[in-house]
Parts: sequence; structure tokens; C-alpha cells
Amino acid sequence: MIWSRIVGTGSGLPAKIVTNDDLAKRMDTSDEWIRTRTGIRQRHIAEPSQTSSDLGADASRAALAAARINPQEIDLIIVATATPDYIFPSTACIMQAKLGIKGCTAFDVQAVCSGFVYALAIADKFIRSGQNRCALVVGTEVYSRILDWNDRGTAVLFGDGAGAVVLKADSKPGILGSVLHADGSYADILSVPGNVCGGKIVGSPFLRMEGQAVFKFAVKVLDEVARETLALCGLATADIDWLIPHQANVRILEATAKKLGIEPSKLIVTVDRHGNTSAASVPLALDLAIRDGRIKRGHKVMLQGVGGGFTWGASLVEM
Ligand code: ACO
Repeated sequence: MIWSRIVGTGSGLPAKIVTNDDLAKRMDTSDEWIRTRTGIRQRHIAEPSQTSSDLGADASRAALAAARINPQEIDLIIVATATPDYIFPSTACIMQAKLGIKGCTAFDVQAVCSGFVYALAIADKFIRSGQNRCALVVGTEVYSRILDWNDRGTAVLFGDGAGAVVLKADSKPGILGSVLHADGSYADILSVPGNVCGGKIVGSPFLRMEGQAVFKFAVKVLDEVARETLALCGLATADIDWLIPHQANVRILEATAKKLGIEPSKLIVTVDRHGNTSAASVPLALDLAIRDGRIKRGHKVMLQGVGGGFTWGASLVEM
């Protein structure tokens, strides 16, 4: 039987850090308001010249180095992003060229903040089918480009960055099971409702959100999808060593852990230092907790996404 295993992880974060106090100098907000409502203290913001494919390539190089894998071994690239470099070609193709890889399958997945969990589940299926052997799965975002910096209700919440994993075929289990869901009837509570037509922006190019509706929806589905994934794998919440939900807001993370009956000490939190990096948040958190030694080989990690669409999903992973 073929399984897929995560054999390396990496991060790509812009050097520029913007603190809550920095934001308070340019809009009517405060460190106290942002910290108590969201847990966010700072976020990384890309330079105008830095794109999703640049950050994704940085994260990929780090993941390939950690996995000790030559880029030419990669036969599948899936990039999850809601902030692609272009309308087309895909960010995956642009990133593939930046990594000097030729010929392999490469495409983007659009599931907003659930994008990485969607991409990981897809890559797992490709590998388990025998079609591919070694995949690069990347979440990468430059949300600073789609924020209205005059809207304090949304501008303070997000950051830029990328996370990547190398997923390899193995005879031992790695990804134990994945569940993916969507409900497009909730499209309006979180969206960037615009497009380009005839050379003009039609609608709005900025992120809009009904914060409280998103909060309630996220906690509900993160609890449900964790339980569904555990049931699929024949495991219980007590079997989870680490919980990594999408890093939207520390209160959503803590409420999810509490509902699931998982101790706060098993929750990985990076939203304080990265803000909400959408599709990048889960692989960034995974990489950080592997590199600081918390997540070890053999540990079972629940990865969870929830975001615009609405979309949500989870993967239970044995490291
Ligand atoms: N600084 C200071 N005051 C602010 C700010 C700010 N940055 N933003 C809003 N306020 C004010 C509002 O104007 C309002 O003032 P008023 O009472 O005078 O009208 C007051 O704060 C309360 O505003 P609410 O929007 O009701 O605040 P709430 O307690 O709901 O917190 C928040 C807002 C943090 C966005 C919360 O709803 C939340 O966390 N929602 C989850 C959304 C989320 O995490 N989204 C991330 C993207 S979605 C995803 O990734 C799945």
C-alpha cells in the first residue's frame, strides 16, 4: 500500500515586520484592541516587488533542504493561494520556474484560508494513486495587496508569508485521512467581490468580512471537521498530539481546542507573530513547531483550514 508522508517543511516570510503600534500610527486602532480581540502582535508585510511565487519559492527551498531532496525529484507542485501573481499563468508554474524545475505537474488551488489543507489532501490522493512520488505543497499569500488600509476592521488582521511541505510516497502511513467541505451559500460573509473586465476593476478589489458571522462559523466547523476526520481514521481526540487550526484569531483557536476537549498546551499558535496569513498559516505553524522541537517524528497532528467560500477541511497527519 502506498501512503504519503511529510518529509520536510519550510517557511518564507518577508523581512519587514509591522507591529500593532506601527498600525496605530496610521489608523484609529491600538495594540490593546488588536491583542485582546485577536491575539495578534505583529505581521510580516511583503515589499511591493515580492510576490506569492517569491515567498512560495523561499518556503519551498527551505522545505527541500530540510527533506534533503533535490528539486528535480519533485514531480507534482500544488500551490494554494488567494493572492496569485497573475490571473494566469498559475503561481505554481511561475514558482516552478523560479525553483528551476521543469516538466512536472503544477497547478494552483483556490480555497482561501482552507487552501493548504485542500492542496495537501489532493497531493495525498495523487501520491496514493501511484501517479506521483514526490510533491511540493505550498500555501503562499500577499494579503497586504487586497486589504483596504483605511478599514481598521480588516487591515489589522492579516499578514503575508508562505509555508511549504515536501510530501513523499512511503510504505508507512503519514497522512492518515482528510476531509474537505464547502458551502457557497456563505460566500458573502468573507470575500473580495471583484474581478477585472475590459481593463477595469468590476466590483471591489478589497477584502470584506462579517467578523462575528465568520467567528461563529469557524468555531462550529473546525470542531465538526476534526471529529469527522478522527472518525474516518478510527481515532479519538486523545490520540492528537498537536492541533494546528487555521491561524485566524487566537480566540477561534482556543474555542476550537476547548470544544474538542484538547488541552491548550497541545495547540500550536503563530497568529501572534504572523497575523492571519490565509493559505500559508497552517504550513507556517507546522514548520515553526517542527523546527522548535515540539512536533517530533511519530506525533499525530491535526491540521485544519477554514475560510472564504466558505470552505473547511482537516487532515490528520502522522509525522
Ligand atoms: N481597532 C479599534 N477598534 C476597532 C477595530 C480596530 N482595528 N476594528 C473594529 N473596531 C471597533 C468597531 O468599529 C466597533 O466599534 P463600535 O462599537 O463603536 O461600532 C468595535 O470595535 C467592535 O467591533 P466588532 O466588529 O463588533 O468587534 P468584534 O468584537 O466582533 O471583533 C473581530 C472583531 C476581531 C474581527 C472578530 O469579529 C473576529 O475575530 N472575527 C473572526 C474573523 C476572523 O478572524 N477573520 C479572519 C479571516 S476569516 C478566516 O481566516 C477564516
